[in-house]
Amino acid sequence: MIGDKKVVYSAVQPTGVITLGNYLGALKNWVKLSEEYLSIFSIADLHALTVRQVPAEYRERALSFYAQYIACGLDPEKSIMYFQSHVHEHAELAWILNCFTYIGELSRMTQFKDKSAKHQDNINAGLLDYPVLMAADILLYQADYVPVGVDQKQHLELTRDIAIRFNNAYSPTFTVPEPYIGQAGSKIFSLQDPTKKMSKSDPDANATISIIDSADLIMKKFKRAVTDSDSFVSYDEEKKPGVSNLLTILSCITGKSIDTLVNEFEGKGYADFKQTVGECVCEELKPVREKYNELINNKDYLYSLIKQGAESAHFIAQKTLRKVYKKVGLTQI
Ligand code: TYM
Repeated sequence: MIGDKKVVYSAVQPTGVITLGNYLGALKNWVKLSEEYLSIFSIADLHALTVRQVPAEYRERALSFYAQYIACGLDPEKSIMYFQSHVHEHAELAWILNCFTYIGELSRMTQFKDKSAKHQDNINAGLLDYPVLMAADILLYQADYVPVGVDQKQHLELTRDIAIRFNNAYSPTFTVPEPYIGQAGSKIFSLQDPTKKMSKSDPDANATISIIDSADLIMKKFKRAVTDSDSFVSYDEEKKPGVSNLLTILSCITGKSIDTLVNEFEGKGYADFKQTVGECVCEELKPVREKYNELINNKDYLYSLIKQGAESAHFIAQKTLRKVYKKVGLTQI
């Protein structure tokens, strides 16, 4: 809460590509919520340093992600949109919160376990500490709601625990945030292995849809999407994960219930079904791609927005950090 306004906060790490999963699980909800609340969205560029990045590519990608935020319908005049690394309070609050977080809590995080298994040659301290920086992001802005996909729920629970622990140790300082997890779309699965989530950094390009993929490419990827050996459309996450995932995608985009869609496809085979899903996704993403192409060629404009976003974010962040420093007993000058 800031003043009398409820606050929405969220972020994406600039790794890989922004996928249809990120779009349906997070960004589409951000756009909806930004119409109602004071909304703050960042590019989590400090977080993504937990894995090695090629500097020049990384810089380009972060800018591209920022343009994609706007292309998805976020309005930088209405929402605060900035880069995490431009607001130094994130790293500073993370340090303080580290002293209120237990190693046991961090080592139990599913994402830490998964990422450690995946990057065995680089299990750095940042990977373990990642959720504390995320808590700092959220708590700096006194966020009420955090729209994320289900994979981030555990991090959100930890953020709440840290906030409550700090508030109890001193006096109410942080708003305790609620996760906002949209019903459909909170977990979109890979098109090639529908038991795994659609991941931004999947090395198999056929497994993910980038929100700026061309229409041809989107259609090809849906045609190749893994289904099963049946030939009827129905929803069953266990027995028919591929078809169920496609139904979820179609339901998110059309707003129709899964039952309605299953009825519509009665008597039709997978080829028709995949064609329809592909066409709907193409139609949904066409304006995103067009707006993106326009923006990415106007770098001066993008940088001016990024600067303005950093200033607005910093204004809020420094207020919270000052309060925290005072509460923990750091000398004020
Ligand atoms: P990230 O960058 O992995 O993903 C960004 C958002 O997309 C959601 N998401 C999905 N939703 C549905 N289906 C999928 N297959 C799918 N894949 C990803 C994620 O849940 C997320 O909402 N740690 C965060 C970034 C972050 C953050 C924060 C989020 C940093 N600071 C503060 C909220 C608040 C992350 O890695 O998300």
